[in-house]
Amino acid sequence: MKEKKKVLTGIKPTGEVTLGNYIGAIKQMVKLQNEYESYIFVADLHALTIPQNPKELKERIKKFIAMYIACGIDPDKSTIYIQSENEYIPAISYLLECSTTYGEASRMIQFKEKSKNNANFSVGLLTYPILMAADILYCDTDLVPVGIDQKQHVELARNIADRFNKKYGETFILPQPLTTTEGVKIKDLKDPLKKMSKSEESPTGVISMFDTKEDIIKKIMKATTDSDNIIKYDMENKPGISNLLNIATSLGNLSIPELEKKFENCGYGEFKKYVAELTSSHIENIQKKYNKLINSDELDNILNKGIKKSTKLAKEKYELMKKKLGLCRN
Ligand code: TYM
Repeated sequence: MKEKKKVLTGIKPTGEVTLGNYIGAIKQMVKLQNEYESYIFVADLHALTIPQNPKELKERIKKFIAMYIACGIDPDKSTIYIQSENEYIPAISYLLECSTTYGEASRMIQFKEKSKNNANFSVGLLTYPILMAADILYCDTDLVPVGIDQKQHVELARNIADRFNKKYGETFILPQPLTTTEGVKIKDLKDPLKKMSKSEESPTGVISMFDTKEDIIKKIMKATTDSDNIIKYDMENKPGISNLLNIATSLGNLSIPELEKKFENCGYGEFKKYVAELTSSHIENIQKKYNKLINSDELDNILNKGIKKSTKLAKEKYELMKKKLGLCRN
């Protein structure tokens, strides 16, 4: 019997940590770690599905770990690790691949979008959600805090686990995605119909957790909005203002209706100033903690402890799967 329920999440280091990652995943984990047994990792194997510069990737992995802790992930409450250091995860992933149909994998929205305009996409792009299923299933995760864009992948993990359990007997806990009600999908500031993403395609639309205060203020003040000057949440007709409301409610302590009331008779300039100040000071505080951490030896100790625990659990699950599948001598 498990004592505490488990939560787990990961972020892939394909660019800097963004405000979207912070609100969609990290911030939820900071809260949940008080109640659940928590696991958070850098999904560096997932980064390889698109070409990476090895030197930059190596630096980014370390920056992600320091950023998690600076954002409030507590190494005494959460197991923090680097995905590629756990060699059992790709092995589990392969066994799960054999329980997944090509049709299922190719129906994933992200796969369809990312393979659409790229004839030379890697096989890794197709198997990506199955590796994610291995990340989730190896340690009996109950809840997976993710942004809405990853919900389908968590549901696939659940389906694969369910099928495996039915065919080979109880092996996995069935995980559930957990998405916040506010700020589920932070949008690009320049194009609020698009997700705020790590890609370097939209330098003024994406807020990185490493941006300077001045840059954050500039980006928010120049965020695309409509022209009717009414601060009201309406994702369909007012995506720019709704996005800023989502950011403000996620980082401050006012709900969306409270924000609408507060800025009832104000113009967009005043509202943007408020969101810019709130966001930039929130991130500035995190950066102060990050700067203290990034060169400390503490990070290695935290990662060593994290990978030890994660590897032990993954080895146990891998052995159990092999046994169920008949991959054992005795
Ligand atoms: P990734 O790296 O694209 O994003 C990491 C997390 O941040 C969330 N997110 C957002 N949330 C709100 N608004 C946004 N604009 C935004 N952009 C990103 C994502 O939903 C995600 O929760 N495959 C995963 C990484 C992964 C993983 C896992 C996650 C690998 N294994 C196991 C959970 C469990 C990914 O690429 O996320």
